Amino acid sequence: MEQKSKAKKAVKLMQRIDSDMIEWIQERMKDFDLLMSYYRCAMMEIETKFKVLNEEFSLEHDRNPISSIKTRIKSFDSITEKLERKGLPFEVDSVEKYINDVAGIRVICTFPEDVYLLADALLKQDDIMLIRKKDYIAEPKENGYRSLHLIVAVPIYLAHEKRLMKVEIQLRTLAMDFWASLEHQLRYKKDFEFTQEMADELKLCAEQSAALDLRMEALRKQVNSQ
Ligand code: GTP
Ligand code: MG
Repeated sequence: MEQKSKAKKAVKLMQRIDSDMIEWIQERMKDFDLLMSYYRCAMMEIETKFKVLNEEFSLEHDRNPISSIKTRIKSFDSITEKLERKGLPFEVDSVEKYINDVAGIRVICTFPEDVYLLADALLKQDDIMLIRKKDYIAEPKENGYRSLHLIVAVPIYLAHEKRLMKVEIQLRTLAMDFWASLEHQLRYKKDFEFTQEMADELKLCAEQSAALDLRMEALRKQVNSQ
């Protein structure tokens, strides 16, 4: 009899723990979803800033420095995987503090000089704070990867507060994007061995496409000067 009531108590306790735990997880998920919505707002702010710059430039110079813009929010799985890799606990605070690329925006430019023109114009804005800059165009990665990476903080204005949110910006030309997309596909292809020859060939392609970018830019300058 005593055993039975002990078992009943244990079951009740477990059910209680279960429902407390579910409630705890639900609360965390609510905080997480809210944080993701802040990141989406920050991404929209940055996207609009680039669209405004493109609009202004196209009126003044009769051409668009931006070919296209892609935005993405890091998935829940990628965030938890990155926190785990860095040995950080799954807490909303650690996402904000340690993960710089939750909100990502990729600006595909027409010519190399457009990359710097847009980056400089954005960084001059007084509500943009530069956190980190990596110029893989001036100093390409060993594999040939080229792009200009910026981590910035931008304010978003909510009903009762102003929040500074981080956004990762990648600026690159069409040619750099073409190369990076292919390299990414090859690198993540399953059951596929990437040989040293292939890596060398890919690096050569990156150098040739960088040379092509410069030739096209020189051509455009000739056309403009006429
Ligand atoms: P994470 O890679 O995001 O953890 O940060 P990190 O500090 O190493 O950032 P880095 O600025 O070097 O690269 C960030 C992003 O740039 C990556 O997530 C990719 O989208 C892109 N990237 C960097 N290196 C390469 C590369 O070699 N090939 C391709 N295709 N993309 C790259
Ligand atoms: Mg990343």
